[in-house]
Amino acid sequence: MTISVLFVCLGNICRSPTAEVVFRDRVRAAGLEQHILIDSAGTGDWHIGRAPDPRTQDAAAERGYDMSSLRARQVTVDDFAGFDVLLAMDDANLADLVAMQPPGSSVILKRFLDYAPHSDLREVPDPYYGGEDGFAAVLNLVEEGADGLLVSLQERL
Ligand code: 4NP
Repeated sequence: MTISVLFVCLGNICRSPTAEVVFRDRVRAAGLEQHILIDSAGTGDWHIGRAPDPRTQDAAAERGYDMSSLRARQVTVDDFAGFDVLLAMDDANLADLVAMQPPGSSVILKRFLDYAPHSDLREVPDPYYGGEDGFAAVLNLVEEGADGLLVSLQERL
């Protein structure tokens, strides 16, 4: 059995690619890479084809995650059939996904931080226009969400 998960943010150059690499790390450590398939995408089209933001890559590299091979892509209608679970980084991303969802689609749509029940935050704040602290804050939240998501998916597999 496999479960496929798509992380979704606005630009696919900060938050969702961070979630992709962190969750991939956790899935590999758990030996589940044959069972949990992972990708990320953005609701916007501005950064299609670009590598993650250098500030995001630097913050990730400080904790040992290599994001350099990732390239941004936009969410498509096909993703609603191609993935089992779409996880939005914030409420605007979630609303955009709900608006795109084709009739009859049975994909699970949630906020990523629904899997971080101990966090006060339900959204991963967009770090793009903020200071350097925002990138480390994204990583803290993403690591928490990734750990909770792994536990939840392990129960389903
Ligand atoms: P992300 O961050 O959604 O976490 O990838 C952003 C990246 C780019 C923009 C906004 C947020 N932008 O406005 O270009």
